[in-house]
Amino acid sequence: MLPQPLAKVIPRLPQGLLYGGDYNPEQWDEATWEEDIELMRRAGVNLVSLAVFSWAKLEPSPEQFEFGWLDRIIERLAAGHISICLATATASPPAWLARLHPESLPETSDGVRLSHGSRQHYCPNSVAYREASARLIRELARRYGRHPSVVLWHINNEIGCHLSTCYCATCEAGFRQWLRDRYRSLDALNAAWGTAFWSQYYAAWEDVSLPRAMPYTHNPAQALDYRRFMSQALTGVLTEEIAAVRDIAPDARVTTNGVLWIKPVDLWECFRHCDVASLDCYPDPANPLDAAHEAAVCHDLYRSFKGGQPFILMEQVTSQVNWRPVNRIKPPGQMRAWSLATVGRGGDGVMFFQWRASRAGAEKFHAAMLPHTGPDSRVFREVCELGADLRRLARVVGARTRARVAMMVSWPNRWALELEAKPTTFAYEGIVHAWHRPLWDAHIAVDMVEPGADLTGYDVLFAPALYQLTQQQADGLRAFVQKGGTLVLGYFSGIVNESEHVWIGGYPGLLLDLVGVTVEEWQPVTDEHPNHVRFRDGFESAVGLLAEVIHARGAEVIATFTEDFFAGGPAITRNKVGRGTAWYIGTQPGPDGLRRVWDELLSHAGVQGLEVSAGPGIQLDLRHGQDDTYLFVVNHHDAEASIDYRDWAGCHDLLTGAPCPADEMMPAYGVRVLTKPSLSKELQ
Ligand code: GLA
Ligand code: ZN
Repeated sequence: MLPQPLAKVIPRLPQGLLYGGDYNPEQWDEATWEEDIELMRRAGVNLVSLAVFSWAKLEPSPEQFEFGWLDRIIERLAAGHISICLATATASPPAWLARLHPESLPETSDGVRLSHGSRQHYCPNSVAYREASARLIRELARRYGRHPSVVLWHINNEIGCHLSTCYCATCEAGFRQWLRDRYRSLDALNAAWGTAFWSQYYAAWEDVSLPRAMPYTHNPAQALDYRRFMSQALTGVLTEEIAAVRDIAPDARVTTNGVLWIKPVDLWECFRHCDVASLDCYPDPANPLDAAHEAAVCHDLYRSFKGGQPFILMEQVTSQVNWRPVNRIKPPGQMRAWSLATVGRGGDGVMFFQWRASRAGAEKFHAAMLPHTGPDSRVFREVCELGADLRRLARVVGARTRARVAMMVSWPNRWALELEAKPTTFAYEGIVHAWHRPLWDAHIAVDMVEPGADLTGYDVLFAPALYQLTQQQADGLRAFVQKGGTLVLGYFSGIVNESEHVWIGGYPGLLLDLVGVTVEEWQPVTDEHPNHVRFRDGFESAVGLLAEVIHARGAEVIATFTEDFFAGGPAITRNKVGRGTAWYIGTQPGPDGLRRVWDELLSHAGVQGLEVSAGPGIQLDLRHGQDDTYLFVVNHHDAEASIDYRDWAGCHDLLTGAPCPADEMMPAYGVRVLTKPSLSKELQ
C-alpha cells in the first residue's frame, strides 16, 4: 500500500505545511494570550501543541478538573484559525499523585525512589499513574474530542526520555509475569537465559528478579529481556493513553513525539500505534555538518516508520537549547536551512519547542519562537520569514520520497549489541550514522527498514552490525539476495540469536553461506593498534573499531588488512548468490574507504545520486508530487558552495519565484526548492 498524505490520515489538518510549536499559555496571563495569537498569525503559525505539561493546572487536586482556562485559549486559537494538537498532559504528573501514591514514583536500579519536582517522575507500570492518566484523558476527550480545531492528539511526551527504567516492586512483579508469558516454564527461561552459567539457575519464579545493581556483569539474556519488557511498558503507556482518547473520541488521530533514536523504546513498535510519526530533533549547531547529517538520518527513520508517509517535526529549537554544558546559538539562516531540509527529506510539518520563551522554570534559557526580547528580534524575524517560506512550499505537501536503498535498523539488535562484555564497546547509532554518511554526501535517498520488513522495491540493503539474527531474519536476507538484491552486511553480524546465544560454527552464523566468508576472531582497532585496508589497486584507508580475522570461502576479496598477524587476509569481500550479491564489510573503514566501497557497490547495483553537481554538505532531496517533482537544495556549510544545476537549470524556484541559474556559488545556509513536471507517474 502506498503511503497516504497526512491530509487523508488526519482529516481536519490545516492546509499547507504545518507550522508552529508547543504553546504553554498557563505560564502567562490572559492579556499575553491576545498578543500570542496576533503574533502567531503574523508568523504564519497554523498548529500548536497545547497543554503538554498542564496536568497540575487541569486537575489541581484529584478529580477536581479546571478546564475553564483551556476552554478560553482553545476558543481564542480557533478564532485565530490556529489548529490544535492537544496533549494528553500526562508526562509530568501533579504533586498530589506522588503524595497519595508514592509507589507511582520510579525507582532506580540501586533502590532510590525519584521525587516529584522535575518531570517524567512516574513508574511506567504504575497502576495509579495509568489510571489517573486515563481519567484525565477521558475528561479531555469528552470536552474537546469533537472540537473542530483539535485536529490531532499529542500522546504523552517524548516517551522513554529521562525515565526509561524502573526497578520498583510493581515492575518486578510485572517483569515476572511478562517472563511467564514469554517462556511459559522455568525450564524454558533457564534455557534461554543460559543459567547453567555462574550458578544462576532458577527453581522458583519468585527468585527471578529485575537486573538491579549487582556486583558484576549482568546475565545478558536477563538484561535484554528487561529492555524488551521496559520498552513494552513504555509503549503500553502510549497505547493505554490512545485507548482512553478513542474510548470517547473514536475518530481521534494521534501522534507522539519521538526523541531521535531514543534507545529504551522500540520506535518501530511505538509508531505502529500512531497515525503519524513525529520527532523532536535538536542536533548541536556547534558541528553544523554532523548535525545536519544526524537530522537527515532521523528524517529517514521517521519517514520510514509509517512506510514513507510524511512525518511532523514536532520540536526543534529556533536558536539555543539550555541543556548542553555549552549551548551554541544557531547562526542567522541555519534554522531556516535545517527546517527546509526537514521538508525536503519528507517532513510536512515544522514545529518548535516552544512558542514563547518561559520567564521562570528550568527552561527559561531555552530559545523559543518568540524570545524574551519580544518580536523585534532576529529570532522572531527569522520565524516570520520561515513561515512565509513554508507558505510558498504549500504544494509540496504529501509529495513522496523514493529510495532504492534501505538500511536495516533494529532496537532489539541495538540493545543486545550494546550490552557489556563484548570484544570492544559498540555504539550502534554511531555505526549506522557512519554507514549512512557517504550516502548523504552522495545525495542518495535512503529508507530505513526493520528486520523482517518487506524489501520489495529496494536494490541495495545495508545491514550494519546486525549482531542479533534469527533464522527467519536470515532467510529474509537470503531471499533478498537470491532475487537480485545487493546486501551489504557489516562486521559483528549474525553472532547471536534473540536470547544472546551464539550461533556456533563460525560467524556470521546463519549467513555463512550467503556472504561466503567465515569470521573466526575479532581484533579491536585502537590508536595504539591501528589497522588499514588495502584495495587491489593499492588504495589504502585507515579503519576503526574492529578488524575481523576472516577466511574467504568462495567470496571474492575486495580489500585486505595491512596490519597484525592476519595482514593480507580478507577485510572486505563480495559473494555472488542467485541473482544478487552479498558484500561483507569486516571492519569499520574511515570515510574515504567507506565512500570507495559504497561507490563501487552502488554503481554495480545501478544506483546513482542525483543529476546535480554539488559537494558533500549540500543536501539534495527529491520529493515526488502528483504532477511535479521538487528538488530541495540546502547548503549546510557556513560558507558559500558551488553548485552546477545541470538538468535543473532554469527550473522554477518556489522560494524566489524565479528560474534557477545554470550554476552558482550558493551562500552559506542557502536553500532552493526547484520544481519540474514529473517525468513518470508510475509509483504515484
Ligand atoms: C524536549 C521536551 C520539551 C522541552 C525540550 C527542550 O524536547 O519535549 O518539553 O523540554 O526538550 O529542548
Ligand atoms: Zn516501577
